Amino acid sequence: MTRAFDAAVIGGGMITHDQLLPSLYQFRRLGLVGSIRICARNRSTLERLAASETLRQAFPEQSFEATTEPYESVLASTAPRQLAVVAVPDPLHRDVILAALDAGLHVCSVKPLVMRAAESEEIEREARSRGLFVGIDYHKRFDDRSLMARRLYRAGRFGEFRLGSACLLEKWSYRHSNFQNWCTVENSDAFCYIGCHYVDLVQFITGLEPVAVSVYAVRDRYPNGNEGYLWTDARVRWSNGACLNVQNALGYPDEGPGSNTQGLTMFCSGGDGGALLRHSDQYRGLEYSFLGGPYAELSPDYFQYVQTGGPGLTPVGYGYRSIERILEACRRVEREPPERRGAVLDEIDGAGILATPGNSRHNERVLEGARTSIHEGGREVKLCEC
Ligand SMILES: NC(=O)c1ccc[n+]([C@@H]2O[C@H](COP(=O)([O-])OP(=O)(O)OC[C@H]3O[C@@H](n4cnc5c(N)ncnc54)[C@H](O)[C@@H]3O)[C@@H](O)[C@H]2O)c1
Repeated sequence: MTRAFDAAVIGGGMITHDQLLPSLYQFRRLGLVGSIRICARNRSTLERLAASETLRQAFPEQSFEATTEPYESVLASTAPRQLAVVAVPDPLHRDVILAALDAGLHVCSVKPLVMRAAESEEIEREARSRGLFVGIDYHKRFDDRSLMARRLYRAGRFGEFRLGSACLLEKWSYRHSNFQNWCTVENSDAFCYIGCHYVDLVQFITGLEPVAVSVYAVRDRYPNGNEGYLWTDARVRWSNGACLNVQNALGYPDEGPGSNTQGLTMFCSGGDGGALLRHSDQYRGLEYSFLGGPYAELSPDYFQYVQTGGPGLTPVGYGYRSIERILEACRRVEREPPERRGAVLDEIDGAGILATPGNSRHNERVLEGARTSIHEGGREVKLCEC
């Protein structure tokens, strides 16, 4: 059965503009999505989204239905077994996801799913009891270099991970965005916001489990005066004794090429030799210097628009593929009779490629420990009795 899902998107901010809405528009072109309703708190957010020149160029034939109704009523008025896309600030994920499940909807959530392991368990239970799929957009997993690394690591080509470092620093100008209203000391920090991508990736590649975390964080002020932990240095220890250092910030110079700086290096060992895996995730071999500037190192891999014929532009990249895979999983579940849905959900969980609450709980355990560590000046927090 081919089935078009109606989509209720909660949150109309940056990630909805940059990745989620263009993916949904493309799915609608392909007949996979029907109506698209987007809910945000302020009408101006929705007006900005509707007026986006990037989206108009790429999807001149498409539009969405805008609403500022409370998300509870938007979700409750969506027909059951359709799709909720959750793109609100981190501290709201739990409530919005539970409301979506209560309305009988499959869920595509931005990362991090939630900030506590118990909340992830609660979401998993609620979804399972209704035969619904919850997928988390850890889109770096769908970068082919991550999938290559996972396959080769698990084939033993690198031996065992020992020491590694990762960084992801967003540009300074992020501080001027809506982040200053929610990514503040009480709610989150640079590590929980962006560091989680690389913690997830190391687990995804190696299959190791994080066992302890410590995070030193520097407080800094946003332009509106709010305080955030805008610079973080984390150390994550793993089940085989390996150690990963992760640095994150909203502080990469605006003048730097590319939209951020990021990458992962892992040193490994096996038998009588060492091995190395290094990903430059910001510099991907592409340099542009535009007439009149600036010099830029764009990533061709996350999310780009290309001309492939037909109306507008076609989105490509692992950001698109990640949402596509989540939608595919919802379709798979819907193709099954109710009594078979649990088995399909088990299979997707077990494959470990798409992030689900069940197979990516290492992230919540690390985030929960990280928040404690930050509040206690960087003390190491054990994540299990090991
Ligand atoms: N690389 C990534 O994976 C990535 C990148 C950016 C953001 N994110 C995640 O996406 C989420 C949103 O980030 P963003 O950058 O789009 O933030 P943003 O601040 O730009 O947008 C948040 C949106 O949520 C809406 N919202 C807030 N409270 C609401 C409510 N009660 N009801 C309805 N809408 C509400 C706001 O109106 C706004 O449209 C965060 O969890 C963030 O961590 C992930």
